[in-house]
Amino acid sequence: MHIDTKCIHAGGYPDTQTKGINTPIFTSSAYGYLDTDVRLYQRYFNTPNQEAVVKKLCELEGAENGVIFSSGMAAISTVLLTLLNSGDHAVVQDEIYGGSHAFVEEHFSRLGISFTMAGKEAHAIEEAIKPNTRIIYIESPTNPLLNVVDLRAVAEIGRRRRILTIIDNTFATPINQNPFKLGIDIVLHSGTKYLGGHSDLYCGVALANKEIAARIRRTAAHFGGSLNALSCYLLERSLKTLSIRVERQTQNAFEISGFLENHAKVAGVNYPGLENHVGHKIARNQMSGYGAMLSFEIKDTPAQAFMKRLKLIKAALSLGGVETTICDPATTSHQKVSEEVKKRLGISDNLLRLSVGIENKDDLIEDIRQALEA
Ligand SMILES: Cc1ncc(COP(=O)(O)O)c(C=O)c1O
Repeated sequence: MHIDTKCIHAGGYPDTQTKGINTPIFTSSAYGYLDTDVRLYQRYFNTPNQEAVVKKLCELEGAENGVIFSSGMAAISTVLLTLLNSGDHAVVQDEIYGGSHAFVEEHFSRLGISFTMAGKEAHAIEEAIKPNTRIIYIESPTNPLLNVVDLRAVAEIGRRRRILTIIDNTFATPINQNPFKLGIDIVLHSGTKYLGGHSDLYCGVALANKEIAARIRRTAAHFGGSLNALSCYLLERSLKTLSIRVERQTQNAFEISGFLENHAKVAGVNYPGLENHVGHKIARNQMSGYGAMLSFEIKDTPAQAFMKRLKLIKAALSLGGVETTICDPATTSHQKVSEEVKKRLGISDNLLRLSVGIENKDDLIEDIRQALEA
């Protein structure tokens, strides 16, 4: 099956009683256990709505199994703390979501886990490996500069050095990038973004082979970040339109990046679909679309003043919804990252990150134009 057909038909839970075509919502928090081996409980990550949506996500990413969480950070923290023990070392790409960055910086040392923040190039990642390195953690395209990591090269390093490779695939979505096909071991998403897609749902997912997924699930049952039935159902419903949403969003982002690139008030545009983008060639080789996130630096106007001039596009935290939103990463997603790191990465006060929605591209471009030229 093609991925757009899988969005509709993969996973789910058959309603044999009424033959309704949607997965029923199972609201119970207590299930009978006599005459059955199964112990259903939301925090064991095994209820019908959880399994229905995990099956769909597995089909979309090409995973054997997975665990559905109550947020992206619940997925990220649970996976990292499942796979790392005191005395281990982790190689973490330096340009990752600010919350993941802060989690590593604030908790790893306390737990006796050492880490090295490495640049995005495969050789920088390999050079950071130590004899006790257990995982390589990456994100691509990166937040907020849309840099691209060579996933095949990182997966090859992981296999050769016997180190697990983990990617946060939130920005790309399974529609534009399938890391398992490139050899990555574990795929994470903040489902709060594109998977949910309507800015009304928090969730996260970790996908892997059966053995790793079972390990993650065991720790997850202790940490407790499980997703409730209603949210699982909402996510399952949203995934049915994932491919058409992301295709339209990607097309819109491509058009907007071209407009911004040629505007005199714009100092620079970061979008992997642009031919002059430093990661364009790698992106072309490993992505089926360049995604719907882009960032750009404006001249003359402070970021927040620019955002206030926008009429259609809303300044908002988060991303991946059907509506276009904008934020300045320096005071939002990367607020907790030190000034020194922000400077080194190139996250300036004038940088704006755009999450492109499914509106008509001409209306979006017009809104940006009037705000730039006001
Ligand atoms: C790339 C990325 N990963 C992970 C997260 C964390 O997800 P959540 O907010 O669902 O915990 C975010 C949130 O913005 C994100 O942008």
